[in-house]
Amino acid sequence: MPPAMPSAGGFTLQDVAVSFHGTAALSGVTLAVEPGESLAVIGASGAGKTTLFRVLTRGVALNGGKVTVGERDLYALSKKELKSVRRAIGSIYQAYNLVPQLPVGVNAALGEVGEMGALGTLRTFLTGPDAALSSRVSKALARVGLEEKARARTIDLSGGQQQRVAVARLLVQRPNLILADEPFAAVDPVTTERVFEALLELNREGATLLVNLHDVELARRFPRLVALRKGSVVFDGSPEQLSEETLHDIYAGDDPYKEVVRPEPVDKRPTEPISIAEGRDGVSSH
Ligand SMILES: Nc1ncnc2c1ncn2[C@@H]1O[C@H](COP(=O)(O)OP(=O)(O)OP(=O)(O)O)[C@@H](O)[C@H]1O
Ligand SMILES: [Mg+2]
Repeated sequence: MPPAMPSAGGFTLQDVAVSFHGTAALSGVTLAVEPGESLAVIGASGAGKTTLFRVLTRGVALNGGKVTVGERDLYALSKKELKSVRRAIGSIYQAYNLVPQLPVGVNAALGEVGEMGALGTLRTFLTGPDAALSSRVSKALARVGLEEKARARTIDLSGGQQQRVAVARLLVQRPNLILADEPFAAVDPVTTERVFEALLELNREGATLLVNLHDVELARRFPRLVALRKGSVVFDGSPEQLSEETLHDIYAGDDPYKEVVRPEPVDKRPTEPISIAEGRDGVSSH
C-alpha cells in the first residue's frame, strides 16, 4: 500500500453544506479535529449530527465546502483510497450494523474483515474466525463483559448487549477514527458506563473519538463539545465554556430535548456488576 494513502484520524471541514431535496441539513460547517481528540456532538433532533458523521465517511454528497482527511480532500479520493479511509473508521449506529443471525463472536470478528480480503471474509462468515483472530475476539468480548456470549446468536441478545458487541467489534478493528452515533440511546446506566469506558480506552490508545449524544450531562464528560443547531455549529468549546444560556439556545424551539438530562438510576437495577446466569453485567435483558 503506498505510504501516501490517507488514513482517518484527524480531519477538517471547511464551510461544508449538505442538502436533502433542497432542505439544508448542514450549512457553513467548519470544524478541525486533531488526531486523538475526543469530542461530543450535541444538538436537537434534526440538527445535523448524523449527517455530519455521514460526511466523514463520504456517505453523503456535498453541496459545498471541503473535507480534508490527512491533508487529502476526502471527496476527491479514488475508490481505493476511500476504501482505505473507511477501513480506518469504526462506526456504531443505532442499528449497530451487526448481522443478526450470526454468532456474537463472528460479528465481533467482522471488525477485521476490511483487512482480510474476500476469501478470509467468506471463511469467517462460514466457519468462524481463525485461532489468532479468535483470541482477539475473546479478549474484546471479555472487555465488554460478553465472553460467555461468543456462540450465542446476536439476534438473541438484548439491545444493550448488541451495543456491546458493536463495541467489541471496534476493539477488534482498532480504528483511527470512531464515529459513535448515540451509542447510549436506550441503554441502562450500567451499560452506558461500560460502553463509555470502552470508547474512552480506545481513545486513550490513540483513536479519535466522536460521539453523538442527546444526553448533555454525559456530553459534559468530554473535553470538547460541538453543538449543532439547524445544520450550523453554534458552539465549539470545553464543557466549562458551555453556559446554561448557550445550552438553552442550542435546544431552543425543540422542547422534547430542551431539558434532556441523564436519567438517574432510579429503578431497582443494581449499580455494581453482579453475577447472574444471564450475563455478567447485572442487567436484566429482554
Ligand atoms: N436521507 C435523507 N433524506 C432526506 N432528508 C434527510 C436525510 N437524512 C437527514 N435528513 C434531514 O436532514 C436534517 C438533519 O438530519 P440528521 O439525521 O443529521 O439529524 P440528527 O441531528 O442526527 O437528528 P437526531 O438527533 O434525530 O438523530 C433533518 O432535517 C433530516 O430530516
Ligand atoms: Mg441522528
